[in-house]
Amino acid sequence: MPSSDVAAAVEVLRRGGLVAFPTETVYGLGADAANADAVARIYSVKGRPRSHPVIVHLAGATAIKEWAADVPADAWTLAEAFWPGPLTLILPRSASVPDAVTGGSSTVGLRVPDQPLALELLEAFAGGIAAPSANRFGRVSPTTAAHVRADLGADVELVLDGGPCFVGVESTIVDLSQGPARILRLGGLSVDDLSDALGHEVRVVSSPDGRTPAPGTLPSHYAPAARVEVVSVYEVSERARVLLSDKHRVGVLAPTRIDDLPDGVEALPPAGSAAAYAQCLYQRLREADRRGLDVLLAVPPPETGIGAAVTDRLRRAAANR
Ligand code: TXA
Ligand code: MG
Repeated sequence: MPSSDVAAAVEVLRRGGLVAFPTETVYGLGADAANADAVARIYSVKGRPRSHPVIVHLAGATAIKEWAADVPADAWTLAEAFWPGPLTLILPRSASVPDAVTGGSSTVGLRVPDQPLALELLEAFAGGIAAPSANRFGRVSPTTAAHVRADLGADVELVLDGGPCFVGVESTIVDLSQGPARILRLGGLSVDDLSDALGHEVRVVSSPDGRTPAPGTLPSHYAPAARVEVVSVYEVSERARVLLSDKHRVGVLAPTRIDDLPDGVEALPPAGSAAAYAQCLYQRLREADRRGLDVLLAVPPPETGIGAAVTDRLRRAAANR
């Protein structure tokens, strides 16, 4: 028997409404993926361009066949190794997938989230749930139910509260729709994890400016109101001094405490290891705005494992202006 919250959420989805729900990565803004009108509401609430496809969330890997027209062996390998988990597979779409979900493209993005409440919802709903991150377009992704309410307010009928997301950055997106697997977006699952599972190196597709593109992941994204600057641990104090002398309100986010920061700088709590940094990243970007900072100087974690995804998000946040 689903909990009463989940039963209410299923009701909302069945009549074409929107439900925000937790995943291990970030909160999603969900609609019945088979209902084109319901999916269209996601776009209007988010303020997101229609051409950006949304990921379809499934209760388990067996449902792949209902949504994808062709499932290469590598897709089954990755689904088996990492689902439920922070991995989205891009596959050729099956004919029944609404254009509203795919943005008119010939592919569909599928993922099984690793979050008990999400899985309970998906099982009870017994269908695909289309869901982008539950934030307004271009803004910081939500990692708590309170973030969703603060950002979307009354535009979302029901918010399932599963507590803070334990991964904290979005899923890794792997394109298997043509040729060998390619990573379109860095995320919760590392490049090495994917390469190990497939037994060969998986390429990260880079755009000319060196950032990873998924159609719809613009260079400027994940941005708080504060200006973000990505700096090394060696540059941060000097840069802070310059900004302070220009009368800016300056904050610092870094993996560990930095001892020689000038007076007047607001040091946010240290982010810790790469995994801990991922977990708290969006919370800290919101914290920068809550404090009314003009500039947040962000020292990224080492770019190994999930650290690569954290660095990618910081660069996108920094590309805001
Ligand atoms: O972790 C996540 O992936 C979260 C949770 C809620 O599952 N979802 C998420 O969705 O980050 P969204 O919409 O904020 O980002 C999904 C990205 C977009 O950049 C979109 O363009 C890309 O995935 N995408 C979705 N379907 C695609 C497709 N068929 N082909 C290429 N890119 C696709
Ligand atoms: Mg998003």
